[in-house]
Amino acid sequence: MSRPLRIWHPFSNSVLDPSPIRVVSADGVYLRTAGGRSIIDAISSWWVNLHGHSNPRIAAAIAAQARKLEHVILAGFTQDAAEELAVRLRDWVPRDLTHMFFSDDGSTAVEVGLKLAVQHYGNLGQPDKKEIVALAHGYHGDTAGAMSVSDASPFTAPFDSMRYPVHRVHSAYCYRCPLGLKRESCNIDCVQQLEELFAERADRIAAVIVEPLLQGAGGMIVHPVEFLQRIRALCSRYDVLLVADEVLTGFGRTGKMFACDLAGVAPDIMCVSKGITGGFMTMGVTLCTDRVESAYRSENRLHTFYHGHSYTGNALACAAANENLRIFAEEPVFDRINAIARIHAERLAQLRGLHQVGETRQIGSIGALELEAADAGYLSALRPKLYNFFLDRGVLLRPLGNVVYVLPPYVLSHDELHRVYDVITEAIQTLL
Ligand SMILES: Cc1ncc(COP(=O)(O)O)c(C=O)c1O
Repeated sequence: MSRPLRIWHPFSNSVLDPSPIRVVSADGVYLRTAGGRSIIDAISSWWVNLHGHSNPRIAAAIAAQARKLEHVILAGFTQDAAEELAVRLRDWVPRDLTHMFFSDDGSTAVEVGLKLAVQHYGNLGQPDKKEIVALAHGYHGDTAGAMSVSDASPFTAPFDSMRYPVHRVHSAYCYRCPLGLKRESCNIDCVQQLEELFAERADRIAAVIVEPLLQGAGGMIVHPVEFLQRIRALCSRYDVLLVADEVLTGFGRTGKMFACDLAGVAPDIMCVSKGITGGFMTMGVTLCTDRVESAYRSENRLHTFYHGHSYTGNALACAAANENLRIFAEEPVFDRINAIARIHAERLAQLRGLHQVGETRQIGSIGALELEAADAGYLSALRPKLYNFFLDRGVLLRPLGNVVYVLPPYVLSHDELHRVYDVITEAIQTLL
């Protein structure tokens, strides 16, 4: 018999990284391995899982859908699961968002958002209004367009030639303020750079893309709400579309259904994925306002949005998403999130006192600490040491370089979250 293909694992170096751990089942917050270990999934398997692994409600919804209709082309056809999702999502997203476009994951939801913005102005007879603005430290995915709006990093370095030009403006990374100011006394002066850019060339700019309130992969950087509010106001004043990438922040992570809700801001375009199916199936959705879509309502064929993926609106993924939203409607999900948030606040306050901890950050169900390191950044030598230390103690945490974060499924118990923080505390005291 020939040897099986070798699986090429994402973000993994087959020489430097340990062999992948084989998981045979998972339930609640636990991954059960072939070797008989139980590992707490404290990062929700790359930020997707909300209500626990193998959640019986979502599993049953997918199974029932599979027996009825697994998938049908969404061009020229529609189906009940997708139509139901359109109804259910409407109750949760900012009121101004009236249209939804399906894709496959976070990166493609972002690609769709950017293309929608550019063609919007093209259809309106403003083809020069096509440039994109993005934030320093931003991360929006790994496909070429999403990688272009993401900030330069070791992830993008080999592909510089494939990244299209983007205007890059300051992020409100207060711990490492780009202007050297202090949050207590500043006036969110970092947003001024965007205002100057708009004043100079808003007639050429189609959109600003932001991760609202929380830049995830860039280091779990939490922004003051005023930063997002000021960006929103500038976009309205200068007629530039605001694209909110809620791929990470959506579905309760920040304590509200969407981060935009926390800031009382409505974007023109919103990208969601990850938690939309409760972590079961891959799906991206890009939502937009009636105003954005109206530029596509045209008798001119060339005004059509010619974009679509084979699995667009997959019925199994829609069934999972519908059940996820039913869980939000019927179970005390936000009580669970708030309980997690309280423990984060308590434990982060304790850790703040350690000299090895530079800053602690929190938003809703996500807690993070930036550790002092001579080589701060994703490739910090601390990262593999921390990762292995945590795993050896039965906790899955994947530090972003010298930033350790906890982003658990909402069903994590108080005791389990305390256990995660005990392990983090031990790691800091042992390794730094
Ligand atoms: C804010 C944000 N946008 C987009 C993406 C890309 O999503 P995906 O990995 O599903 O393509 C991610 C992934 O982590 C993300 O955090």
